[in-house]
Amino acid sequence: MFRPNLMAGKRILVTGGGTGLGREMTEGFLRLGAEVYICGRRLPVLQETAKELMDAHGGKVHARACDIRVPEAVDEMVGEIFAEGPLDGLVNNAAGNFISRTKDLSHRGFNAIANIVFHGSFYMTHSVGTRWIESGHKGNVISILTTWVWNGGPFTVPSAMSKAGLNIMTKSLAVEWAPYGIRLNAIAPGPFPTKGAWERLSPGQSTDGSDTATQGIPMGRVGQMDELKNLAVFLMADGVDYLTGETIAIDGGGFLAGGGNFSRLAALGDDDWAGIKEMITSANDRDKAKRSV
Ligand code: HXC
Ligand code: NAP
Repeated sequence: MFRPNLMAGKRILVTGGGTGLGREMTEGFLRLGAEVYICGRRLPVLQETAKELMDAHGGKVHARACDIRVPEAVDEMVGEIFAEGPLDGLVNNAAGNFISRTKDLSHRGFNAIANIVFHGSFYMTHSVGTRWIESGHKGNVISILTTWVWNGGPFTVPSAMSKAGLNIMTKSLAVEWAPYGIRLNAIAPGPFPTKGAWERLSPGQSTDGSDTATQGIPMGRVGQMDELKNLAVFLMADGVDYLTGETIAIDGGGFLAGGGNFSRLAALGDDDWAGIKEMITSANDRDKAKRSV
């Protein structure tokens, strides 16, 4: 779809780039010539991804352990990267999420998600953006949201509230930072099955696209990773510099057809929710055991 080396010379940081959609977008940028930094809390996972992608495509992927919930850690990582050369792009992709009835959520459960998505993505954007402004370097931010920013996210309220905040950050800073040559856009994906999301949002269901994820989607299928990669490259590349402040859905028409969220979970009862919570927390614990920071 794109000419070879379209992204040559670009330096891009993808949060949560070690897994799932972050890894896919990293590959999309890398194979068109960009140098990519990826961060997350599990250094071995990031290092393995970096190695696999460089073995497949050449180029440079740098793995950094960083918990984006910690502003000092974010600033330290971003400072170190800029010391090696200015970034051109940031992808706010890292997130936490799980389905739960909101009445069952503890304050800590709410914060577990809001601290990553709402606060962490702001720390990242602020840390990178202020360096662009100070140095006069042009910059480009893409935030990965959900279509819930438009119609709400029942049973995923902390995520929906946090992503809606980032939607407004995108629009606000598109205006405030346009004079500095910084643009901000967002992508709202429909279902693109990943291990991280499915373990917490569709526990027990397969990631091959054959499950309930396709219900209510006019195209009758889940998203293909290349479709997401191509949209991320389009937004990050030069050539559409006048495009800013937009959130673009890539969801097979699911949101426009009146869906895209978890409203169907209203049919579940107490026993279902107890089983779901058990499956999600064991997935959380497995991942947590691998964290480096
Ligand atoms: C209710 C839950 C819960 C659940 C955790 N908690 N899971 N409450 N139901 N299923 C509560 C815990 O009981 C605890 O509160 C609090 O949350 C914090 O739990 P920790 O495990 O200590 O949290 P932490 O180590 O901070 O981990 C954060 C996390 C974890 C969000 C819970 O899942 C994580 O790190 N996720 C990262 C990866 C991820 O989530 N990927 C999916 C992104 S997909 P108490 O009060 O008991 O102490 C996505 C897709 C959107 O966003 C769109 C799809 C279509
Ligand atoms: P995923 O593989 O679980 O990705 C989440 C990533 O975020 C992980 O690599 C995780 O790494 C990182 N992360 C979480 N907390 C972090 C923290 N505090 N600091 C640094 N990194 C952190 O899930 P995914 O499906 O690819 O989701 C990626 C993005 O797409 C998210 O923003 C999600 O909301 C969005 N999205 C996904 C879908 C979908 O269908 N998959 C649909 C709509 C939107 P560590 O655990 O190592 O930190």
